[in-house]
Amino acid sequence: MAITQKDLPHLSEREKVMPTKKVFVKTYGCQMNVYDSERMIEALAPVGFDETTSIEDADVIVLNTCHIREKAAEKVYSELGRIRQVKLARQAEGKRTTIAVAGCVAQAEGQEIIDRAKVVDVVVGPQSYQQLPSLIFEAETQGRKIVKLDFPERDKFQDLPKRTKPRQASAFLTVQEGCDKFCTFCVVPYTRGMEFSRSVGDIVQEARSLVEQGVRELTLLGQNVNAYHGEGAGGNSQSLAQLLAALGEIDDLHRLRYTTSHPNDMSDDLIEAHRSNSKLMPYLHLPFQAGSDRILAAMNRKHTATAYRSLISRIRVARPDLALSTDIIVGFPGETEAEFAETLAMVEDIGFAQAYSFKYSPRPGTPASMLEDHVPEAVQTERLHRLQALLEGQQSSFNASCVGQVMPVLFERAGRDTGQLVGRSPYLQAVHANASETLLGGIHPVEISIANRHSLTGVVL
Ligand code: 5AD
Ligand code: SF4
Repeated sequence: MAITQKDLPHLSEREKVMPTKKVFVKTYGCQMNVYDSERMIEALAPVGFDETTSIEDADVIVLNTCHIREKAAEKVYSELGRIRQVKLARQAEGKRTTIAVAGCVAQAEGQEIIDRAKVVDVVVGPQSYQQLPSLIFEAETQGRKIVKLDFPERDKFQDLPKRTKPRQASAFLTVQEGCDKFCTFCVVPYTRGMEFSRSVGDIVQEARSLVEQGVRELTLLGQNVNAYHGEGAGGNSQSLAQLLAALGEIDDLHRLRYTTSHPNDMSDDLIEAHRSNSKLMPYLHLPFQAGSDRILAAMNRKHTATAYRSLISRIRVARPDLALSTDIIVGFPGETEAEFAETLAMVEDIGFAQAYSFKYSPRPGTPASMLEDHVPEAVQTERLHRLQALLEGQQSSFNASCVGQVMPVLFERAGRDTGQLVGRSPYLQAVHANASETLLGGIHPVEISIANRHSLTGVVL
């Protein structure tokens, strides 16, 4: 059950009306964590908390952590060392500070966090953060440490308050969580659990409330979002394509995106949606991880390099102007130079508008972490540099090909320079243009005049 103001006797009448306490949230990692952080702040609002960007002012500090790659836990412990100083300084002023560690490091490390960092009061996993207000209350009133790592039967979204005003016209919406794929390098199936899809009705309701508050673009999130199979109105299971169609019916919602996908779940109807759903943006993030079939098998990716190539061809037939993005790992255990060359060849052949690439890092508890044939760090670094040089080149030429085009840009925020706004093209490029603030939150035609490596500059028509 969601905790409400009336459940909290420690709040005075005044506190129940207006926020009197501050919460500072630091987010690491993926977009899902960004979404979760927003929802944690929303969950704390009814019990008197307002967000602050100044850690020294915070009565509650939340670290929403990521465990996907190397040294994640170490980063959290060193941040907790700094936070200890903040807590001590506040204590000297007679102020109390409650510290919570949330997210995937919390799920993976649990009690260990409290044992190693005495400053922490609450450890809460990604499936239990809806209980954050009561966990903080318990920690504060009972003066004890709390570790909450349940995967509750009841879906946490049922217990979160309604969405409050989003910061930008583009918002994230988690529709699916967890993953059953068990790639051998990945911690997600252990930290986020098995696949779970929210119902279509629930998602449409959340989307409508965001759109009523000015959101014009939604990115549907899930660790394996295209495996989405939520319950529809008639109780039957609906695919991601069907969910996208249902969201497409919302009038003032103009743009839809989704991330992250697995190649094996790119169903025919989803590929068709890239042709027929006019609100679905021509952009797809589809990780392939490695170009060698031997490495893909060792990663338990369950697809081959050829299958990925032919999938991309089919999607490009449906949507010829599709901009592609991907994730790639270099230096997986046992990867030879020839096998790495197959990754380069895949990138050369397919062409990516942008991409994320990483050195393999062993994650505790994953099958790949037991493998012994480590690729030396220096070799990993050298391969990553070569790969990133190729990817940067592709991104630059994709951006250069946009010069002279007129693109609809959704303006999201003020830019660094006065009079400048920043928005997104359909292909997810950042676009800078001089424009009046009245254009914020709307889609406007922009003629692209300059291509930078990671963004575009243009003139509003
Ligand atoms: N080492 C390196 N990269 C990893 N990723 C996931 N686990 C690891 C790991 N152990 C990368 C994958 C994934 C992205 C989110 O992070 O490329 O798609
Ligand atoms: Fe991890 Fe993605 Fe593989 Fe799932 S599909 S195990 S989230 S890399």
